[in-house]
Amino acid sequence: MEKVIGIDLGTTNSCVAIVENGTPVVIPNRGGYKTTPSMVAVTEAGKRLVGHIAKRQAITNAENTVYAAKRLIGRKWNSPQVKNAVATSSYRIVEGPHNDVRIVLRDKEYSVPEISAMVLQEMKVIAEDYLGEPVSKAVVTVPAYFNDNQRQATKDAGEIAGLEVIRIINEPTAAALSYGFGRNIEKTVAVYDFGGGTFDISILEIGAHGVFKVIATAGDTFLGGEDIDARIIDWLVQGFKEEHGIDLRQDRMALQRLKDAAEKAKCELSGVRETEVNLPFIISSGRNEALHLQRTLTRETLEELSDDLTERTVDICRQTLEDARLGKDEIEEVILVGGMTRMPKIQTAVATFFAKEPNKGVHPDEVVALGAAIQGAALVDDKQEMVLLDVTPHALGIMTFGSYFEELIPQNTTVPTHRTKIFTTSRDNQTAVKILVMQGESQRAEENELLGEFILTGLRRAPKGQVEIEVTFEINADGIVSVKAKDLETGLEQSIQVTATSGLTRDEIKQMVEDAKDDLLDRRTSEEFEGARQEAEKLIAEIQKLFPQVEQIVATSDFGRDAIEKAKSIVDKANQAIEKREASLVKEQIEGLTRTHRMFKGVVAKT
Ligand SMILES: Nc1ncnc2c1ncn2[C@@H]1O[C@H](COP(=O)(O)OP(=O)(O)OP(=O)(O)O)[C@@H](O)[C@H]1O
Ligand SMILES: [Mg+2]
Repeated sequence: MEKVIGIDLGTTNSCVAIVENGTPVVIPNRGGYKTTPSMVAVTEAGKRLVGHIAKRQAITNAENTVYAAKRLIGRKWNSPQVKNAVATSSYRIVEGPHNDVRIVLRDKEYSVPEISAMVLQEMKVIAEDYLGEPVSKAVVTVPAYFNDNQRQATKDAGEIAGLEVIRIINEPTAAALSYGFGRNIEKTVAVYDFGGGTFDISILEIGAHGVFKVIATAGDTFLGGEDIDARIIDWLVQGFKEEHGIDLRQDRMALQRLKDAAEKAKCELSGVRETEVNLPFIISSGRNEALHLQRTLTRETLEELSDDLTERTVDICRQTLEDARLGKDEIEEVILVGGMTRMPKIQTAVATFFAKEPNKGVHPDEVVALGAAIQGAALVDDKQEMVLLDVTPHALGIMTFGSYFEELIPQNTTVPTHRTKIFTTSRDNQTAVKILVMQGESQRAEENELLGEFILTGLRRAPKGQVEIEVTFEINADGIVSVKAKDLETGLEQSIQVTATSGLTRDEIKQMVEDAKDDLLDRRTSEEFEGARQEAEKLIAEIQKLFPQVEQIVATSDFGRDAIEKAKSIVDKANQAIEKREASLVKEQIEGLTRTHRMFKGVVAKT
């Protein structure tokens, strides 16, 4: 039977899984990790890096390393979320040709689906390495609260990566599938998914014979661990400014180091009550004197800094229960998903709200990918008994005369679905109408997301209100929308699949599929290579750690700058050798790395 992989394309980490002999399993990457950082970088030599290898060089190559691209996917350039990202990212984000977003890496512009495609392609290769055969089909997950533009852009990313995305499913729904799979339970559950970039809550009924019915869902696609990290960064930057009068945000490398340290401190505080943030040589005072950042962060302070974010997730839970017309006591199980649910404050907030200890039986980083794999297997195996009934997270409709939003499909309607409504012309002798397709909850059309537009022309001339136009909306199982308009008198019809606003045209996607093909590498592996890789990676990590200090110390002399450039290029070359998976190439680099490491240690020891 055909193999379908399930991919959880996360803001911070991605995960791939497959069903093998009836059992869903997570596929580890070459380093043995079950999740892979959703990071992409381009080195000075123009080499593309994805995953751990990209994360390992983020500090020394901050400007050309992309993280959290999912926060930008399917968004418009002029949206507030994109403005926020432009202001806070260490990589460059610019305006694309269709009011979309492009990311600049080494002077080349990439669309966001292209960046996500690099991550998806990596996940595909991880699966192929493991299975020993090519994989062409995938189920990819998205946050439940993603709108049509974001879903469509994610599908485009799959296509660019050379994957046929046979279904897009919602992350909390996937988690519920994995939770309920093969257990034959009947339960009403809430899935609370707090990840790196997004928050989702879904309420589902799991019925006998593998029926999973979503009753209501809601969320915030710009609320996640990244925002909590940002709070810590703000706190550190503010403190530093008060002490030294210097704004650390001006320096991309300092910003990347702050980001690293903030996330690390946050994770540590899930286990201990206080931790020290220690960033030596974070910046120069401008008088040739290096400044250090050292501050203690307590769990209590972290909870204060992020209190309103925790509260926001609870408010959304409350609203979703109302939408589902359920009381808290009717929720029989609360499932925690996403790395952020390891934070003790989050766990107690959820337990307090639902008045119930959450279920600890699922793995918060892996359930989503496992659920995607389960759905993938069910789609190609008709013997499998499983029915998934999801809902549309946003209301769908059109803009009518006077800028009103006229809803055709309400929020939380089970998909696939279609609805029809009849409209009339708003002017005398009107021969054309413009249909603006929108998604959102506001009655004011301009506050909702524009999905696409088309014009129905050739209407017969008549007094206003006399020409009747039938508008039909359809949402398929991926949650993707198409719209049809028909002049009832003449039978004249126009339709669109709402694709125009994903930021890419069909031709552009085709070109990107072609470009991405050339980037596939042959990835064989051997024990000899593994040994060399581990040694090289250890040295690279040590060098990265010393790098900021060394740069501070030696950057003022020509000789020092040369040494820095050389060190960077040695690390680059070593990373590339690792990427090529050739033991001999990696071994060749170890000597240079060792030398650089020794030199760095010497420089630091002298100060
Ligand atoms: N022990 C921990 N304590 C606190 N936070 C943690 C811990 N471990 C991981 N995290 C945070 O969880 C987030 C990553 O979670 P996860 O991998 O579920 O997100 P994602 O799937 O990549 O994102 P999303 O689902 O929002 O697209 C990061 O912000 C990370 O810092
Ligand atoms: Mg996730």
